[in-house]
Parts: sequence; structure tokens; C-alpha cells
Amino acid sequence: MNELELINKAIEAQKLSYSPYSHFAVGAAILLKDGSYILGANIENASYGLSMCAERNAIFQAILKGIKKEDMVAIAITADANDLPYPCGACRQVLSELFPLDAPVIVATNNGKKLKSSLKELLPCIFTSESME
Ligand code: THU
Repeated sequence: MNELELINKAIEAQKLSYSPYSHFAVGAAILLKDGSYILGANIENASYGLSMCAERNAIFQAILKGIKKEDMVAIAITADANDLPYPCGACRQVLSELFPLDAPVIVATNNGKKLKSSLKELLPCIFTSESME
């Protein structure tokens, strides 16, 4: 996997962000087994709570394209900030169901800070469909 290329795709996706309220553009890119990418960016709304995060837009986009979890290799989430743009709690929960638990989740800033993790690490004690059995 070319980590830098994946990060650069997420940085490119920031340009698609619609964030007139926070002025905080987040980009996300999912690398697929065939070498292609699915992009996402945050999209906000005047009714703030209806805004949608970059990584959730990316994973929903992948699902809508019929892509299976097994065909997802890694995800990168980026922002032009000093601190790493860790996925919010809601995104961790959504990704834990739709994205492979052990696959790399790379968070990075445009100025070169980065950290590689996984959903297993980012979301311990996951609530799943089995939790309701
Ligand atoms: N945001 C994301 O896109 N991903 C996250 O995981 C955290 C927050 C967006 C939502 C909102 O548009 C902006 O960042 C400020 O919270």
C-alpha cells in the first residue's frame, strides 16, 4: 500500500468539502483492493446537526457503489490543522460495522503529521448486532 498516495487522495478530497460554518475541511479516502479510491468530505448545513463527516460520506459512498468490506484496504482522514483529525465517535461506530476492523485507519494533517491505527484500537468494546442477541 502506498500510504502517502492514500493520504494525498484524502487531502485532495478536502477540496470537495462544504464547510461554510466550521471552515474546517476534512477529507477522507478509502483504498480498495483493485487500487482505486473512494473519496469523501464533510458536508455541513445551516441546521448544524444535519452536517455529515467526511469519513462517513466516504464509507456510505463505498456501500452505495456495492463495494464489500473485504475489498477495502485502508482509510485516510485528513485536515489542514495542527492536530490529527481523529474520527469522531459516531464515525467510529459507523465504520466499525462497514469497514474492516483490522485495516489501517490513517489520520494525517496536510503538514505531514500522521498516525496509523485501526478501528479495533479506536473503538474498544464495540456495540454490534450481536450485542442485541
Ligand atoms: N468532521 C469530520 O468530517 N470528521 C470527523 O470525524 C470530525 C468532524 C467535520 C464535521 C464538521 O463539518 C467539521 O468537521 C467540524 O466539526
